[in-house]
Amino acid sequence: MLQTKTIRDVEVAGKIVLVRTDYNVPLAEDPETEVMHMTSDLRVRESLPTLQYLLEHHAAKVILISHLGRPKGQKDPKLSLRLVAEKLAELLPGVPISFVDEISGPEVEQAVEDLPEGGVLLLENLRFSPAEEENSEEYAKRIVDSTHAELFVQDGFAVVHRAHASTSAITRLLPSVAGLLLEKEVSGLAKVLDQPKRPFVVIIGGVKVSDKEPLIERFLPLADQIIVGGKIAADGYQTSNPKIYVAEDFDENEAGDKLDVGPVATSKIVSAVKDAKTVLWNGVLGKVEDPTYATSSTILAKILGENHGITSVICGGDTAGFVENLRTENPELSYTLISTGGGAALELLSGKTLPGIDGLEIL
Ligand code: 3PG
Repeated sequence: MLQTKTIRDVEVAGKIVLVRTDYNVPLAEDPETEVMHMTSDLRVRESLPTLQYLLEHHAAKVILISHLGRPKGQKDPKLSLRLVAEKLAELLPGVPISFVDEISGPEVEQAVEDLPEGGVLLLENLRFSPAEEENSEEYAKRIVDSTHAELFVQDGFAVVHRAHASTSAITRLLPSVAGLLLEKEVSGLAKVLDQPKRPFVVIIGGVKVSDKEPLIERFLPLADQIIVGGKIAADGYQTSNPKIYVAEDFDENEAGDKLDVGPVATSKIVSAVKDAKTVLWNGVLGKVEDPTYATSSTILAKILGENHGITSVICGGDTAGFVENLRTENPELSYTLISTGGGAALELLSGKTLPGIDGLEIL
């Protein structure tokens, strides 16, 4: 359970509130226009309860900060958060929503001043500066000074495993509390997975190969079986541990790129899941934005969503987004828990201290 104060424990009325969200939404590029669009708005929708709470409790202004993708400290128009501001305007009709394509400085100061009371302002992608990932206090201070924020709310559950300026350094500059999504995610995961019913199978896929390897190791004592698919398997992850099954065949494109796990691996995954009582799935098994390579992930999502005897936890932006989209077409599918956090959820469950929660005020 979360041991920190939340927005319900502090006065928000009349304050400028700075909220760290995780709007690292899955994106796809239109091959003709090269315009980016989000393939799932789950992380944006999940941020709404906190925003609504703050507005209903008369916060003067709400300033949102987030990262999107891994632009390596450089401005990249394809990773601008503008598209999230457009989505927020659609999801919060009647609320003044603005966007400013800077993170600090006079343009931000002006945008905050121009924002009407009860309005929401989203700043540009925090990772357009290397100072974000360097956990620079000076960078965090520039954001605080430009926005005149009086309270910091950590609601980006999916990023609390990173010690960055907007998750760690910033908590030394402002009173800092948790938002409602962070609270919901931490208590939801603890409830379902504190003492998992066994067999407990963990499925790891996705593209963040270097992040996942240590997590696989850390999960070994907790899980009965770990299945590795996605890019980690395609890149040749090897292990001699009998608890770990690494996908052995792949569907390839003409160039020989391994873009989905193949039929042999899929049937092994299916039988492991059918025998399991608890399944934690983080990371899609193939390049699901292309339906040709979404076969194994679709099969897995359907088995989990149809089998209500299995406690099923889906976590991570891409995986949760993929499953949510599938649910739109197949509303009969249901899961025990869908979490916006991928790496954060896994690190939390493996007992690691999370820097983005560590700096928040204790209850
Ligand atoms: C995530 O999607 O897991 C979070 O937004 C963190 O992103 P990162 O792995 O690029 O730090």
